[in-house]
Amino acid sequence: MQKKIEELKLSFKASLAEATSAEALEALRVEYLGKKGHVSALMQELRFAEDKKTAGQLINTLKTEVEEAISEATEALRKAEIEAKVRGAKKYNPTLRTSEELGSYHPITLAAREVEEVFISMGFTIENYSEIVDDYHCFEALNIPKHHPARDMQDTYYLDNGQLLKTHTSAAQNYIMKKYGAPLRAIFPGRCFRNESIDACHENTFFQLEGMMIDENISISNLIYFMKTMLSEVFKRDVKVRLRPGFFPFVEPGFELDINCAICGGEGCPSCKNSGWLELCPCGMIHPNVLKEGGIDTEKYTGFAFGLGLTRLAMMKYGVKDIRDFNSGSLKALSQFKSN
Ligand code: DAH
Repeated sequence: MQKKIEELKLSFKASLAEATSAEALEALRVEYLGKKGHVSALMQELRFAEDKKTAGQLINTLKTEVEEAISEATEALRKAEIEAKVRGAKKYNPTLRTSEELGSYHPITLAAREVEEVFISMGFTIENYSEIVDDYHCFEALNIPKHHPARDMQDTYYLDNGQLLKTHTSAAQNYIMKKYGAPLRAIFPGRCFRNESIDACHENTFFQLEGMMIDENISISNLIYFMKTMLSEVFKRDVKVRLRPGFFPFVEPGFELDINCAICGGEGCPSCKNSGWLELCPCGMIHPNVLKEGGIDTEKYTGFAFGLGLTRLAMMKYGVKDIRDFNSGSLKALSQFKSN
């Protein structure tokens, strides 16, 4: 019997070496360990054997050896299959560029950064404010009570809960005054919304950049100085500026600051409504009611504010003729700003 077992061992080894697929290994397992397999047959024979004890141990050893050898071979086969798949697969190299096309900053972002840099150098902080605001911040706190005619010019999009999409960056004035108190110097760029009919120079979604300076003895000359310094830095040329009286309930006196249209050189074009001038920066001295509402002591402090049309500024700076290009998502139009 022992001899028979030894022979089976040898023949198993030979068959194992030839079994190179999962199916062949399974067939080998059945041949040896299955119900009608060699090991079972040996067990049957064992009943009649003389050397039961030794033969029994040998059968058990054979059984474990066969089990282990088959499971090792199955595992090795599985690994080899995975390795072959990996070797055959297209390799992904994260360090390779997928395309030469790199993204670019939006022209509005570029314009905002330039203005921000100038104001940072003059000691201003940059503030952030939400796009969804309440009636108080957008109007009431700015000396625009309910039913004031100034609201007509700023029709916007309302939420069911009474909140609205901010019509101007001035909506942050009260919040910033309460946050810092006086003295303060801050600018706050932001997206604004109005229910407008859209044409080459009007959009329902546009950007402004608001600024405020509050301190002792602030006057109109400070306002003009800061506006001139900023515009000449941003346009890197001697821009022509004109101040006209303008009415805004939150400033007194209020002005419209216009700059000459760089697109047509002052001759008149659709972007400047043929006037040669572009309304760029309404501004004024902050109304005492607005300062008081922001918790500022009006006996001690005065301040100026301005609401720079950031979208307009970008149009002039980059010679964009149609405001609709900014929100168009047109890569042809927007990707021209890469080099900046
Ligand atoms: N918020 C005004 C608008 O969008 C613009 C404005 C006017 C802002 C005068 C100011 C200001 O800060 O002083 O129509």
